[in-house]
Amino acid sequence: MNIRRKPSWAIPEREATPEHVFLNRRRFLTGMAGAGALLGSGLGIRPAFAEADPSAGLYPVKRNPAFTLDRDITDETAASTYNNFYEFGSHKQIASLAQRLDIRPWTVTIDGMVDTPQQLDIDDLLSKMPLEERLYRHRCVEAWAMAVPWSGFAMPELVKLAGPTADAKYVRFETFHDPSVASGQKQSWYPWPYVEGMTMDEATNELAFVATGIYGKPLAKQFGAPIRMVMPWKYGFKSIKSIVRITFTDKRPVSFWEEIQPKEYGFWANVNPSVPHARWSQASERLLGTDERRNTMLYNGYEEQVAHLYQNVTGELLFM
Ligand code: MTE
Repeated sequence: MNIRRKPSWAIPEREATPEHVFLNRRRFLTGMAGAGALLGSGLGIRPAFAEADPSAGLYPVKRNPAFTLDRDITDETAASTYNNFYEFGSHKQIASLAQRLDIRPWTVTIDGMVDTPQQLDIDDLLSKMPLEERLYRHRCVEAWAMAVPWSGFAMPELVKLAGPTADAKYVRFETFHDPSVASGQKQSWYPWPYVEGMTMDEATNELAFVATGIYGKPLAKQFGAPIRMVMPWKYGFKSIKSIVRITFTDKRPVSFWEEIQPKEYGFWANVNPSVPHARWSQASERLLGTDERRNTMLYNGYEEQVAHLYQNVTGELLFM
């Protein structure tokens, strides 16, 4: 495939949007969030966002104290109004468009190299899994970052449920594909559906997490409801949203951005401050909500848990 079109996040934010426009946009969005609260406050008008989620009663879940942060949790409105979800547009303000996604019924297919392929209804899956909350840092390849309380379950639990055969070496994930709901998917130069992948060693690492909630509630749609991956030591594009299919395989999956621009986005995508992106530095990051700048950390600060996964991987571009 020879697509030259670049994602908007292929441009550092400062260049993508003049600063005064960017700041005004944020003020506007903050105002809009207030307006949304007003609308929902008893005027009898229900904002699209407020649709009841049948899993709402499961949250909040108990926080796992093993996962702590070196920074404050990002303000919920800031994180909920600045998202990457190309299915709904190549900009960050997709929150209201994403409300078009129908998340019930929702089936996750598990297939490929497994003892028994399965089709799991999301609510059945939720009832089987040990839910917990984890505080994780999140680092986008564009050099913005956040720290959020995810709810969900450890990916190793899902691997156990799936029962992969000994031949499986990778896990491949696929997002829904429905251009009638997600207008970004009408843009034929993108290789829809969004695909991501990881090795079995990564999938069974203690940090690999399947998120079904955030901020003590079910995932809002813009975060990738009803089920997404969270790989906190990797650039955010590895954390695929709104998953419908999980396939165990012996072939390394080619992910969405890798297919579009393999010289800039690779399979591994581990965070590293000393390896710049082809067109910008990764040395520091901007925190959503406060705009504070922080130094980027190797493996996003999770070196102790994951560095060993890569000790024997040679000849690979581990940090793009
Ligand atoms: N998953 C899908 N299906 N589509 C996307 O466009 N964007 C990725 C990732 N998962 C994306 C996706 C990128 S680039 C990032 S940084 C994170 O989602 C953003 O997650 P957030 O919006 O919850 O902060």
